[in-house]
Amino acid sequence: MVYEELIAQVKALTEGIPYPIANLANTSAAIWQALDRLNWAGFYLMQDGALVLGPFQGKPACIRIPVGKGVCGTAVRENRTIRVEDVHQFPGHIACDCASNSEIVIPIYKNGEIYGVLDLDSPYFSRFTEEDQAGLEALIRVLEEAL
Ligand code: SME
Repeated sequence: MVYEELIAQVKALTEGIPYPIANLANTSAAIWQALDRLNWAGFYLMQDGALVLGPFQGKPACIRIPVGKGVCGTAVRENRTIRVEDVHQFPGHIACDCASNSEIVIPIYKNGEIYGVLDLDSPYFSRFTEEDQAGLEALIRVLEEAL
């Protein structure tokens, strides 16, 4: 199963490495290599009360997303993973790449506080299933150990 291997790889890449940006960068690259049908995979990190672009793979993206805005800011405000089957139907979706049709955003925590989000975009509608959500949430729990 793709997530078992991906999680083992991220654990091996990040365990004991005291450099959060390096760990986020390697994780975005590992996701990009392991999962198909993506057009963007990366992180937004909480800085000065908003989400700021972090390490990613894909096209250049918007730099700052206020809490409550877009899919990313909504995931932070609502403290939960958000899976969007069709981004064109999501009120306030921020289109960084007009090729995106579906998206999943998973909150990341450190010491019980919001740290940022993992954001994956796909050019396919309904790319992300419940199984993807479970696998990616388990992946983020492993990454959180290295932030
Ligand atoms: N679509 C996101 C913005 C980030 S980009 O997709 C990389 C959103 O609505 O929050």
